[in-house]
Amino acid sequence: MKEKWWKRSVVYQIYPRSFCDGNGDGIGDINGIRSKLWYLKKLGIDVIWLSPVYGSPNADNGYDISDYYGISPEYGTMDEMKALIRECENCGIRIMMDLVVNHTSDEHPWFMEAKKSKNNPYRNYYIWRKGEAGSPPNGLESCFGGSAWEYSEETGEYYLHFYHKKQPDLNWENEAMRKEIWKMMNFWIDMGIGGFRMDVIDVIGKIPDQGIKENGPKLHEYLQEMNRETFGDKNLMTVGECWGADIENGSLYSDPERKELDMIFQFEQMLTDQVPGKQKWDLKLLELKQLKQAFAKWQKALEGKGWNSLFWNSHDLPRIVSRWGNDKEYRVESAKMLATVLHGMKGTPYIYQGEEIGMTNYPFSGIEDFMDVESVNMYQERKQIGYSEEEIMESLCAKSRDNARTPMQWNSGPQAGFTKGTPWCRVNPNYTEINAEEALKDSDSIFYYYQKLISLRKEEPILIYGTFELLCPEDEQVFAYMREWMGKKWLVVCNFYGKPAEFDYPGRGRVILSNYRQDSVTQLEQMKLRPYEAAIYEMIESGNHIIQRRD
Ligand code: GLC
Ligand code: CA
Repeated sequence: MKEKWWKRSVVYQIYPRSFCDGNGDGIGDINGIRSKLWYLKKLGIDVIWLSPVYGSPNADNGYDISDYYGISPEYGTMDEMKALIRECENCGIRIMMDLVVNHTSDEHPWFMEAKKSKNNPYRNYYIWRKGEAGSPPNGLESCFGGSAWEYSEETGEYYLHFYHKKQPDLNWENEAMRKEIWKMMNFWIDMGIGGFRMDVIDVIGKIPDQGIKENGPKLHEYLQEMNRETFGDKNLMTVGECWGADIENGSLYSDPERKELDMIFQFEQMLTDQVPGKQKWDLKLLELKQLKQAFAKWQKALEGKGWNSLFWNSHDLPRIVSRWGNDKEYRVESAKMLATVLHGMKGTPYIYQGEEIGMTNYPFSGIEDFMDVESVNMYQERKQIGYSEEEIMESLCAKSRDNARTPMQWNSGPQAGFTKGTPWCRVNPNYTEINAEEALKDSDSIFYYYQKLISLRKEEPILIYGTFELLCPEDEQVFAYMREWMGKKWLVVCNFYGKPAEFDYPGRGRVILSNYRQDSVTQLEQMKLRPYEAAIYEMIESGNHIIQRRD
């Protein structure tokens, strides 16, 4: 089987609004990204996942698209986009575009037409149901709060929107609509992009009348059709965002024989911080055992069948160092530990902008600090049903998407070097200490640790192909696992807490990488791990038998 290039790749997600502002209007843009390619090249990443830069009225920061073929003037021009693709190519970096096709903006020409009359040719591009004003067809809820149905005056019917009411859901049953999507995807493929990240793709097969949102009966059929009609024979990279994936339905997507996607984002490990079956705001104490099980389950389930994506962060998730790490006295140690545990596993790792310098959550002080529609709606809803201000703020501080969307911290100058103007969103005040310039000056920084992890993946096939075995699943403080490939064994050991821990394994290990200084060969029996200590060891003796090294 020919090797797939994306198995060796590391992806870097850029949220363009907050990455780098090239023209001083306070909003990140394409020219800003172009000015930072040297930085990404230095880090060593292979692919940029670019969050949406298309035409959009920004009800959901670009995830509400009004023009799939055009670049939003805030971000630049199509010529600048082409230049970005070309310049990336010259650096060996491919661009993966965000594909948002579960819904469009209500300002997309298709919807503007569709809402005019019941027999408009575009009517059937969207999902309409009869109903009196004030009584929606059923109780389906929007992800951002309230009913998923919005009444449309013009024709006296409701349309479905699983997200913002300015994001009407497309009707995937309609073949003409699907053909338009294939055409648009092929337009971008012809422009030379490296692939697609597919926004909430597991929702496209919905059956609203039966309350089915994710994993509808025709979901996989649509993906196979998409594969056939667009990227199937193009050697691109595709990843689907699937909040509703469990290992049964999740293993279908990336099985090469099924010809759907290369991998998906599943969120089981990220959901371990909330009360099962409740909302993301209903926080639960973190339990390492659960986190380990979630990761290990997917590592096992896709072994030899599909492929995992590995991530801690995105523009939708809080900063991991503030969640599973310690963003105060052990910020550096814990950021490196979290990187080790993730990049040591099998799959394609994703880094979200700023993760590589250990950016943290924002110190919000009140509701007026929040901008994201999801946070603002949640505040109003929970206030109304009697939650206290403290309870709401606790949830928002921990989980608001605004945590990840603050501007990238480039240096200790005004506005962290993100813009020469007034930034669209507050800069985290810790930028004077946490910024890329500082990180690049310090050979021991989180940045260089990520750089090493990325280059290890290029050099060591064991990271790509090795099997995965979780060790000590019952241990409440240590996350440890073994990778094995062609007689070589790599042990990854991570202390997830700020207090010392113990770990015990027969034999000795040669240190490949660690976030603390260690002897080059370490006795693994009765090890004492320091706070957030993490290491990758190559086993040189396991029990009594010597493991043959190939080199
Ligand atoms: C995805 C995006 C998120 C967006 C939603 C609706 O989850 O990552 O940012 O709000 O889809 O498009
Ligand atoms: Ca700008």
